[in-house]
Amino acid sequence: MLIAQLTDLHIGAGRRLAYRKVDTAGALEKAVAHVMSMAPRPDVVLFTGDIGDLGTPDEYALVAEILKDLTIPYFMVPGNHDRRGPLRAAFPDATPVAMGQAFVNYVVDDFALRLIALDTLDEGKPGGVLPKSQLDWLRGVLADEDDRDCLIFLHHPPILTGIAHMDAQNLGDGADELADIVSEHRDRIRAIICGHVHRPIHTVWAGVPLIIGPSVAHQVAFDLRADGPSAFVMEPPAMHLHVWDADQKNLMTHLAYLDHYDGPHPFFGADGKLIV
Ligand SMILES: [Fe+2]
Ligand SMILES: [Fe+2]
Repeated sequence: MLIAQLTDLHIGAGRRLAYRKVDTAGALEKAVAHVMSMAPRPDVVLFTGDIGDLGTPDEYALVAEILKDLTIPYFMVPGNHDRRGPLRAAFPDATPVAMGQAFVNYVVDDFALRLIALDTLDEGKPGGVLPKSQLDWLRGVLADEDDRDCLIFLHHPPILTGIAHMDAQNLGDGADELADIVSEHRDRIRAIICGHVHRPIHTVWAGVPLIIGPSVAHQVAFDLRADGPSAFVMEPPAMHLHVWDADQKNLMTHLAYLDHYDGPHPFFGADGKLIV
């Protein structure tokens, strides 16, 4: 089973450039073309949040227009740049939540590996949360009769990456409880995959692999200084391809580049200006 992960699209309405510099709509078009050209083709695509940049209906209309070319199943969780209402309205099939449910939590049971979507959005805030109701939902899913191996996907990582300005907006409330739940089921949670940090980062957390995906558009500057400023960098856009080998019960993650940006790769601030 092949799972493509596309994350942190940051699509702006009218193809507005992100940070006055990044053609995110063009980047998504290239990502979709890349996925559709892969052989073998992925079975499913997971979008791990920041689909839009402001979370408006016109942003999601542009995303939907571009995703017309993505003719394999895909699913989404919201990121901090998204808004649940417009996202769900634009992509009901990609956010298949139960009637009356406030959060975009759901389970995809169509594949060999069970896919569990967790919504960490705290609307209007950069950091993520998992309230008790959501943690109870996850406990219920993991305690049901389906004991297959599974993968959890969410936007905000529950870890500190060392990139200080991103760590200040990681998964806050609920992260410790999530660790307890994951640890309890670590034998069959094969990975937790996240977005948000715009860099490929791998670790082990609560006894399972935790993997953060690179952005399909622009990356966060690799800067481990405690006072490092918020900055992005035009390193090449990329995606993760997670390969689940059901026979060997092994999940392997490949990094695939989607485009090339000419180097060198200086750091840019949120205003799109060079940080010297
Ligand atoms: Fe993002
Ligand atoms: Fe984010």
